[in-house]
Amino acid sequence: MSEKGTILVTGGAGYIGSHAVLALLDAGWRVVVIDNLTTGFDWAVDQRATLLVGNIDDEALVRGAMLEHGVLGIMHFAGSIVVPESVVDPLKYYRNNTVASRSLIESAVLCGVKHFIFSSTAALYGMADVSPLAEDVPTVPINPYGTSKLMTEMMLRDVSVAHPLNYCALRYFNVAGADPQCRTGQSTAGATHLIKIAVEAVTGKRDFVNVFGTDYATPDGTGVRDYIHVSDLAAAHVAALEHLIAHPVESLTMNCGYGRGYSVLEVLDAVDRVTNRKIERRFAERRLGDAAELVADNRRILATLPWRPQHANLEQIVQDALAWERKLTEIRG
Ligand code: UFG
Repeated sequence: MSEKGTILVTGGAGYIGSHAVLALLDAGWRVVVIDNLTTGFDWAVDQRATLLVGNIDDEALVRGAMLEHGVLGIMHFAGSIVVPESVVDPLKYYRNNTVASRSLIESAVLCGVKHFIFSSTAALYGMADVSPLAEDVPTVPINPYGTSKLMTEMMLRDVSVAHPLNYCALRYFNVAGADPQCRTGQSTAGATHLIKIAVEAVTGKRDFVNVFGTDYATPDGTGVRDYIHVSDLAAAHVAALEHLIAHPVESLTMNCGYGRGYSVLEVLDAVDRVTNRKIERRFAERRLGDAAELVADNRRILATLPWRPQHANLEQIVQDALAWERKLTEIRG
């Protein structure tokens, strides 16, 4: 039995959450997952964790779990994440992300949970025209998804002043790849993320990859992003949790990225190198709302946590994403 205590992971059956569950278990934590399985999968939750199926604003379920398991901290991944959908259905995002988070935070306060790690996003920076982006760049989200996450950061800030709970908001840049041991990966249908789409093309699920925009003010004209391996991101969550425990009156907001950008064409070149073939690229119009470049200034996380990236290699990210995509094809037939 673990000596470290129990962490509640919301959205632990989803892409990033299921990797965080593995990182916590591998580090000796006990884990309880709450997930409503709308986009997650029960098989993605490691057998060592306890899975409770339900919503994070189900007070009886959430508070019962917190009290029964003596939950020390929360990692909160549950939420809706599709930016264009947030534009056409903003109230869904304010309900699933902002209002549900408010309920979860209130449950945490009432049940005496001490530490809260929140999945935030680089979308908070909107169309910022500086690069790399540090945490003190003004937060001006340009879509309801980003606003719903910013509002949750604000609630956590205020609650941490009023109650004995500290928090860490981790602002993710572009999360990609899969568990190097192939235990979980990105499995939700209808992907929009570049590397997932590219490996779907490699495995024959698509015929080509669109390159959205070729006239950005970037070296090759295509969008530049900071791709972080999902297992490094999961490790950052565990390191952040341990920091919150060691510094109980401190709260933090930190970018999660490598501080190095790759263009769409560079990503597709990496996919071609890994597979030793060429996937078809189709040059297309810019996608609405896409920034030219989003690269993290990651000095704060490097200075604050002992966390050091272990998988900061684009080809490895692609390889791990591809290995998972192949396994997913086997699982699904
Ligand atoms: N892209 C293509 N073709 C595709 C898919 C993407 O060219 O088929 C390009 C995009 O235009 C962009 C880059 O690849 O330049 C990355 O796009 P993704 O869709 O993979 O990721 P985003 O940068 O759009 O999204 C990420 C996070 C979101 C977050 C957003 C903030 O995944 O959760 O950054 O802007 F909200």
